[in-house]
Amino acid sequence: MARRPIRLYGDPVLQARARDLVEITEETRRLAADMFETMEAARGVGLAANQVGSLERLLVVDVPGETEDAPHFRAALVNPEVLATSGEQLGEEGCLSFPGLYFEVKRPNLVKISAQDLDGNEVDIEAEGYLARALQHEVDHLNGVLYIDRISPIKRGLLRAKLGDIRKKGAAGEMRVDE
Ligand code: NI
Repeated sequence: MARRPIRLYGDPVLQARARDLVEITEETRRLAADMFETMEAARGVGLAANQVGSLERLLVVDVPGETEDAPHFRAALVNPEVLATSGEQLGEEGCLSFPGLYFEVKRPNLVKISAQDLDGNEVDIEAEGYLARALQHEVDHLNGVLYIDRISPIKRGLLRAKLGDIRKKGAAGEMRVDE
């Protein structure tokens, strides 16, 4: 396993749509293992493949349990697809491709997702609260959608200076490496 550098906002790969994974290979499993290691080193709860420069439809999440009803959830998901959402929640969000940038994002509170695990088994997930937020954030990444796309232009305008700094680095090919 190896940590991979994390792409920063401004890198075009973050705004590209990831391709469906047609076959799960040893390479896919290695990518997933590397993504877990990279996410853990950066103390994140989720990471999408575009964030390490791969346009494969693969994400990893590791979300600590909030309550008995919402236990610890750790998974690598292949070809995840949001089937349904409902409700609404407002909560603070960060992203490993936007170091130090946290703000509130409104999202559905409940989400149903279908995906495959690394053995190709179908998995159906129903999540709520923080886990639902994390999963939606990562599926968004695979569609080339970023959390800054989920806030109003006015709110985004308030972040312009910070976004500009990160974008400059990302566009120049600078990446994030956590020790
Ligand atoms: Ni993110």
